[in-house]
Amino acid sequence: MTSDVLIRVLEQTDAEAFRDLRLEALTVAPEAFGASYEEEASIPLEAMRAHLSTSPNVVFGAFADHALIGVAGFAVHDRVKARHRGVLWGVYMKAEWRGHQVGKRLVQCVIDHACRHVIMLEAVVGLTNDSARSTYHGLGFRPYGVQRKALRVGDTFYDEELLYLDLPQSEDA
Ligand SMILES: CC(C)(COP(=O)(O)OP(=O)(O)OC[C@H]1O[C@@H](n2cnc3c(N)ncnc32)[C@H](O)[C@@H]1OP(=O)(O)O)[C@@H](O)C(=O)NCCC(=O)NCCS
Repeated sequence: MTSDVLIRVLEQTDAEAFRDLRLEALTVAPEAFGASYEEEASIPLEAMRAHLSTSPNVVFGAFADHALIGVAGFAVHDRVKARHRGVLWGVYMKAEWRGHQVGKRLVQCVIDHACRHVIMLEAVVGLTNDSARSTYHGLGFRPYGVQRKALRVGDTFYDEELLYLDLPQSEDA
């Protein structure tokens, strides 16, 4: 039952489950992510833990029976003059849980969180990635360009669509 799926912000104690799911994502769908498996597999668990405690940067996780089945990340740009902009990253659902609106719920959580910290949310998505494009477009993201040959996986190049979402500011922003 997808209504039993709980979504919450990941904590340091979730680091191992997060790393496992992240490495699965980079194995199953390498063309969907900027990072490579090799780059992320070498990151120590301690660094992963630290990464999960850098608020307002957060990762939302979807849990079914206490098992992590999906994730979506939020990060604010580092540079002082770009801190009004946030980035949606690392969106992934385990294959057997796709198509039940959980990915959409995860991205909506990132949007709601982003409203409290930034005025615009950005994302990039593969031009041929129908499920992710449909999810993002359906939640209001608008395309503003295409990065040609943005990623190379083996001998194949992938174009990426650049997306933005203007955010209404919540009261605590
Ligand atoms: C992208 C992803 C997270 C979507 O998660 P999901 O739980 O399967 O998606 P949802 O069930 O929430 O569906 C969200 C919307 O996308 C649509 N959608 C889902 N799969 C689709 C597909 N293959 N083709 C077209 N639309 C699709 C749904 O109909 C839904 O639209 P609606 O709200 O109008 O009904 C998931 O497919 C995934 O993990 N893909 C592999 C990794 C990836 O590509 N990540 C994105 C990196 S940018």
